[in-house]
Amino acid sequence: MSKPKVVITRRWPEEAEARAREVFDVQLNERDVPLSADQLQDCLRNADGVCPTVSDSIDARVISATPLQCKILGNFGVGFNNIDVSAAKQAGIVVTNTPAVLTDCTADLAMTLLLSVARRAGEGERHLRGGNWSGWRPTHMMGAKVSGKTLGLIGMGRIARAMAHRAYHGFGMKIIFTDPFPPPQEVIDDLAAVACQSVEELLERSDFVSLHCPGGEQTFHLINAERLAQMKPTAFLVNSARGDVVDPKALIDALRSGAIAGAALDVYQGEPAVSDELIKMENVVLLPHLGSATLETRVAMGLRAIENVKALFDGEEPGDRVA
Ligand code: DGY
Repeated sequence: MSKPKVVITRRWPEEAEARAREVFDVQLNERDVPLSADQLQDCLRNADGVCPTVSDSIDARVISATPLQCKILGNFGVGFNNIDVSAAKQAGIVVTNTPAVLTDCTADLAMTLLLSVARRAGEGERHLRGGNWSGWRPTHMMGAKVSGKTLGLIGMGRIARAMAHRAYHGFGMKIIFTDPFPPPQEVIDDLAAVACQSVEELLERSDFVSLHCPGGEQTFHLINAERLAQMKPTAFLVNSARGDVVDPKALIDALRSGAIAGAALDVYQGEPAVSDELIKMENVVLLPHLGSATLETRVAMGLRAIENVKALFDGEEPGDRVA
């Protein structure tokens, strides 16, 4: 039996690409250059399956490709707001993602952001590397204590729970959260977590606010000027979810005016472009969307995407079907 033809839009770690070669007639992107909308359309016309990733925009125009050969979009990523899921559904294309395998590493990175902004790690490193360190002194680069503080989580899915686990069991932080679909009671009990009635209540009570909601229309600019004004002036915002959850202009204004103490970001509206104003601010930690970026996790994400696509062509239900 001939193997299904599958396009993988960007380079994957070797082990995952090797597995893809075994099970598919695979087209790899050896040069790792992002594909244009026209090239993505060609993929949908010529391949049985496409494995895009979170930086490929598979919008309604791309999906309108005719004649359409593609039966499945096996997204490499847990987030799938890069795909117009309703257009895919209408076109009869199955969409899958890669949940669970990136939970720990993404939570580790969210905690890295939190610690870095509170303890001025990036700023300190720039200070030392710039040759400006004149020696230890009691008032040098004082940051904010993390242990025992209140962490507010907006969204309480897998990654938020893993971060809460680290924060509560490792740092003795108090955990508060909002989520329209709260976790099971045993999870809440294990974290001594308290549900807030509204995002506003959470913002008012938190020393650190960490975003863990999906991107997309429903959460677009959820953190806007009004909501930033509800945070404590000593509080920090951490975003490892999606860039468009935060209004970037409102964030810059809040940082500039001292409405909040700092921000730590791994994701950006319109990434990879990042505002020069943010880049110049010392109380902001900026990482280039590294949430899941460990070798172990990226291999696991690739293997998971392959299993989803393979399942469909084997006549089975893909495990991580989202549409
Ligand atoms: C995802 O999977 O959605 C992440 O943002 C990739 O790191």
